Amino acid sequence: MSALARPGAALRAMTVSDLDAVMAIEAGAYSFPWTRGNFIDSLAAGYLALVLAAPQDGIVGYLVAMAGVDEMHLLNLTVAPGWQRRGLARELLDALEARCRADGLSMLWLEVRHSNERARALYARRGFAEVGLRRGYYPAPLSKREDAVVMSLRVQPEAGDALE
Ligand SMILES: CC(C)(COP(=O)(O)OP(=O)(O)OC[C@H]1O[C@@H](n2cnc3c(N)ncnc32)[C@H](O)[C@@H]1OP(=O)(O)O)[C@@H](O)C(=O)NCCC(=O)NCCS
Repeated sequence: MSALARPGAALRAMTVSDLDAVMAIEAGAYSFPWTRGNFIDSLAAGYLALVLAAPQDGIVGYLVAMAGVDEMHLLNLTVAPGWQRRGLARELLDALEARCRADGLSMLWLEVRHSNERARALYARRGFAEVGLRRGYYPAPLSKREDAVVMSLRVQPEAGDALE
């Protein structure tokens, strides 16, 4: 990992007061970004929402995930364009997996655009398997639709965790 790789960002819960910064990143990172309402609804619903905040630069990445009975569904994972490729997505996914383990959730699920090679590479590298396709799941330019690849990961217990 290079010296640039560790911006010293700290992980904390997302709050409504973060949403100006989050929306600025969201608009720069996606052709079809979430709306402010999507974030407000997620916070109101009590979904897991975490930000990575760097000391001088503020929020540099975030995730939103919805817990189910035995599983977690990752809804949004974003790193600010100027902060990508420094291991921050890995750090956010570490936190998500740790939360799954702490809450006894054994599966992680997500959808990703078929054309999003960076994200698919990130998840594949992380051990996620491509387990399905949702046809026309996402909006695409010129009023077209794009397929989503469904990916899942069995969350491994920490070495030393009690096995029953
Ligand atoms: C996808 C995204 C979250 C990756 O964030 P990141 O902080 O740059 O990723 P990391 O630095 O933690 O990279 C982890 C691994 O992901 C893969 N990866 C990340 N960016 C990549 C790229 N541009 N090309 C190829 N692989 C890439 C690599 O395997 C990388 O490991 P390596 O650097 O050791 O090779 C980021 O590019 C992003 O926010 N993109 C826009 C929003 C988005 O597409 N989110 C995902 C929606 S499902």
